[in-house]
Amino acid sequence: MKTKKVKLKLKQGVIKKLKIIGVILGVLLVAYMFYCKQLSQFTELGYSREASKKILFSEHKEYILTVKENKTLNAAFESEDFKDKYLKNYAKISFVDHKSLIKNINKLLEKGYSNSDVSIILTHGSEEDVIEFTKRERVRYLEEFLDFPYAKIKYYDRYIAYTDETGEDEKTTVIHVNLNMDKKEYEDAVTEDVFSYDMLVNKFHYLEEEFIPNDLIEISEEYRGGTEVVLANRTAVNAVIQMIESASIDGLELVVNSSYRSHADQIEIAEFYRKWYGDNYVENYIAKPGYSEHQTGLAFDMGSKKSKTFADSKEYEWIIKNAHKYGFIARFTKRGQSITGYRSEPAHFRYVGKEIAEYIYKHNITFEEYYVMFLDK
Ligand code: DAL
Ligand code: ZN
Repeated sequence: MKTKKVKLKLKQGVIKKLKIIGVILGVLLVAYMFYCKQLSQFTELGYSREASKKILFSEHKEYILTVKENKTLNAAFESEDFKDKYLKNYAKISFVDHKSLIKNINKLLEKGYSNSDVSIILTHGSEEDVIEFTKRERVRYLEEFLDFPYAKIKYYDRYIAYTDETGEDEKTTVIHVNLNMDKKEYEDAVTEDVFSYDMLVNKFHYLEEEFIPNDLIEISEEYRGGTEVVLANRTAVNAVIQMIESASIDGLELVVNSSYRSHADQIEIAEFYRKWYGDNYVENYIAKPGYSEHQTGLAFDMGSKKSKTFADSKEYEWIIKNAHKYGFIARFTKRGQSITGYRSEPAHFRYVGKEIAEYIYKHNITFEEYYVMFLDK
């Protein structure tokens, strides 16, 4: 009898305990659900879980709800470098995907830069460039050069020096400096070692002697001006043939006089012209070996079968209006002289592909300018 009573008591005790545990669990569950709901106010706005937790336990909840989605604020709340006093600045500064974004923003704000200055600095350079920039004295008139999306924060001093020296306007300065034109041509050139249809070769972009373009093929005799073998890249050859065929429908006789030239060929050609026309001519019209885009297999010196002076021919009139439809650009124009560094060369066309050719044609710019705007990373 006695043991039965004890057992009953024990049972009742366990039930009581279970009830208490149940109540506690219930309370915890409700609290957790409440917490999740609070958190979701921020996660639903696009804030990460980590940032949302920090927001929830901060005094900035209401502010965040008024700002709504903001990537820089998200990064700030995720960061150990978050500073309360810069909360409203973070909200107005452009987001860039840099590891030390908030640390750099703090440093720039401490130097006295405005929110828009900081955005400009962040969006005009890599993370390393921005870190370097945070170490220097505060710079004034930032927008002067950095209004152009392709301006680079790391070249800031070069822009100033170039504009002081040459008196060029801001846009020209940015384009020229980005092309390294403030440096010595041939001496400070970047080496290009990967073949591509949009590769840039000029006085500042160099090809090693060993560089051979992809997929060189011979251009068959019917499309050539002379009897000598002419090689070029396969895709470019197909495009040039299409162009020549189209011109022939209009009764015109376009031909290719020269295309791929090796380093040795370029030496030979320069010597030939030097002998007959002198140094000045070679300087203005012939690239030094390694600096000629003829070595890419993408450049074509075109001619007319009928007329000796290509620039005066019907073929020239046609090609200048139509080349872009086949992916070619007139590479050395009168307008482009100050950028390309060569005198106008009506015969020289460069294969870059239709998209780029059409843009360059429509906007009447050089390949160098296109490169600065869209290709130079
Ligand atoms: N005539 C052009 C510049 C070349 O030699 O590549
Ligand atoms: Zn040429």
